Amino acid sequence: MTAPWWKDAVIYQIYPRSFMDSNGDGIGDLPGILARLDYLQWLGVNALWLCPIFTSPNDDNGYDISDYQGIMAEFGTMEDFDRLLDEVHRRGMRLILDLVLNHTSDEHPWFKASRSSRDDPKRDWYIWRDGRGGPGSSPRRGLNGGPDGGPPNNWESIFKGPAWQYDAATGQYFLHLFSPRQPDLNWENPAVRKAMAATARWWLDKGVDGFRIDAITHLKKTPGLPDAPNPDGLPFAWAYPHHRNVPGVLDFVEELAADAFRDYDAATIGEANGVAADQAEAWVSGQRLSMILQFEHSHLWSSQPHAGLDLPALRRILGRWQHALHGRGWNALFIENHDLPRVLSRWGDPQRHRRASATALATMYFLMEGTPFIYQGQELGMANTRFDTLDDFVDVYARNRIRRMREAGQDDDAILRELAVTSRDNARTPMPWDASANAGFSSGTPWLRPNPDYREINVAGERADPASVLNYYRRLIALRAAEPALRHGRYGALLERNPQIYAYTRRQGGSGFLVLCNLSGQPAPYQHRGLRLRHEALVLANREVAPHPPGIACLLAPYEARVYRVDFGAE
Ligand code: GLC
Ligand code: CA
Repeated sequence: MTAPWWKDAVIYQIYPRSFMDSNGDGIGDLPGILARLDYLQWLGVNALWLCPIFTSPNDDNGYDISDYQGIMAEFGTMEDFDRLLDEVHRRGMRLILDLVLNHTSDEHPWFKASRSSRDDPKRDWYIWRDGRGGPGSSPRRGLNGGPDGGPPNNWESIFKGPAWQYDAATGQYFLHLFSPRQPDLNWENPAVRKAMAATARWWLDKGVDGFRIDAITHLKKTPGLPDAPNPDGLPFAWAYPHHRNVPGVLDFVEELAADAFRDYDAATIGEANGVAADQAEAWVSGQRLSMILQFEHSHLWSSQPHAGLDLPALRRILGRWQHALHGRGWNALFIENHDLPRVLSRWGDPQRHRRASATALATMYFLMEGTPFIYQGQELGMANTRFDTLDDFVDVYARNRIRRMREAGQDDDAILRELAVTSRDNARTPMPWDASANAGFSSGTPWLRPNPDYREINVAGERADPASVLNYYRRLIALRAAEPALRHGRYGALLERNPQIYAYTRRQGGSGFLVLCNLSGQPAPYQHRGLRLRHEALVLANREVAPHPPGIACLLAPYEARVYRVDFGAE
C-alpha cells in the first residue's frame, strides 16, 4: 500500500487577505493567489491551505462565516475559485480549505432565524440559556445588559471577556467562545452535525483536497455547562475544562469523518488545541482525522512570551509527539501560523542572526516525522512588524485586549509593549513580493501596513540571492522530497539535555540522517559517539562548512544547522 498523498506533502498556508491583491483595493484575493502559483510551484510545496475564503462580515477575518457556499466578495467570485482550483490541480498541487465548524457569523441566516424567536426551528442550532436569575428575574440590568444575576455561567471567551452575550429580543444569552459575533453552534443537535457534514461534502464534490478544521476540540461542551475555574493564570493543560477536548468530542469527530470524509481521498487536519500527545492517537487513528495541529510548543512560548527559547522543554514536547505517533498516526509539523507572531521574533534573533536563526529553526522542525507546514512569509525569514501606536492593531483579539487592559488601568505604553510581541497582526502583514511601493502586494492602500522591513526582505530579492532564507527553504523542501528516510524514517533525539543544540536522527534500516541545529547565539560544541560526521556526507548546511576529516565532534557556530547522511552501523 502506498502512503496517502498528504504524508509526502509540504503544505503552504495562505492568509488570503494578505497574500496578493490583484485589483488595487488593498485586500488580497483569489486572482492574486492565482497570479502567484508559479512562485509556489517553484518553491516546491505540494498543497495550499487557504484560511477562510467564504462570505463573511469579517469580524474575525473570515472565521465568522455567513454563507459556507459563497466566496467572500472582497476575495472574488465562485468562477475565480473554480479557476484557482483548476490551476492548482494542473500544477500537480492540492487545495485545502478551512472548515469552521464550531461557530458561524451572527449574520448567518441560521443565527438570524435562531435569535428571532424562542420557537424558531433554528433556535436549538445555537446555545441559548436563561441568565442566572432566570428569565426576567430582575428589572435591573446585569453583565452584558442581561437580567441581573448575570450570564448562565462564568465561562471566559477565548478572545477575553464573558463567553455569553445577552440578546434582548428573546431575553436569553447565547454562547460565543470567540467573539460575540461568532455564536457557537449546538453540536448536540443532530441537524447541525448533518448540515456541517453536508457543507464539507459540497466542497469535496467540487474537487477540493481536504480541510484544516478550525477549533475542532471545542465542538463539545460539558453537559449542563457548569462553571469553570477562571482560565487566567491556569496552566495550559487545565484551561477551558468544559469546552475544550471534553469527553465525547471524538464521537462528533468520528461521525463527521464517516458522514463527510470517508468517501474521499482528503487530508483532514484538526486544529486541536488542548489535546495532549498521549491522546493524539485517538484523534488520528482509524477513520478519524489525517493529522492534528498541536499547540504545546506554541504554549511554551505564549506562557512566557519574553523568556526566549527553553530548548530542553521544546525538545521534550516535540519528542513526546514524535514518539506518540510513530507507526500509529501522523504529525503535523509547524512553527508559524496566522495566530502566532513570527517565529524569528519568538525564538530566533532577527537583529544579529536573521538568516542563520531563521534557517536553523527551519531545519529543526522541517525534517521531523510528519507533514511540514509553512506559513506565508516564514520562508523569507520575516520578523514581527513594528507598531507605533495602539491604533495600529486591527485584530479582534488585540482590540479586545486593549479595551480590557485600559479598563484595568494599564497605560497605553505597557499595552503596546505586550501586544507588539504577542499580537496576531504580526503574522498578517502583506506578503512582501518586491521592494516597490506596498511591497508589491497592492497598487492601492493595503488593509494592514506592510512590515517596514520589506525593502530588504522580499521574494524578488531573496530569489536572486543563493544564500537567502528562501533558497534555503527551497533546498529543504527538495531534500525532504528526495529522501524517503526524511519522510518515513524514525525520529530519535540525541543530547537530550543540551541547552543549545537540537540534534536528532531519522533512521530507516541501517542508515539515515543526522540533523544538527544550534538554536543559540553562542558557539556550541557537538559530540556524539557512534555517529561519524563525514564531510562528503553533508547534504545541507546553512553556512559554509570547511572540509573536515571524519569525526564524531564539531563546533557549531551561532545558529548553525547541518544535515549529514549517517550510518548507524550495527548498534
Ligand atoms: C482558530 C483560528 C483563529 C480564529 C479562531 C476562531 O483558532 O485559527 O484565527 O480566530 O479559530 O475561529
Ligand atoms: Ca483585492
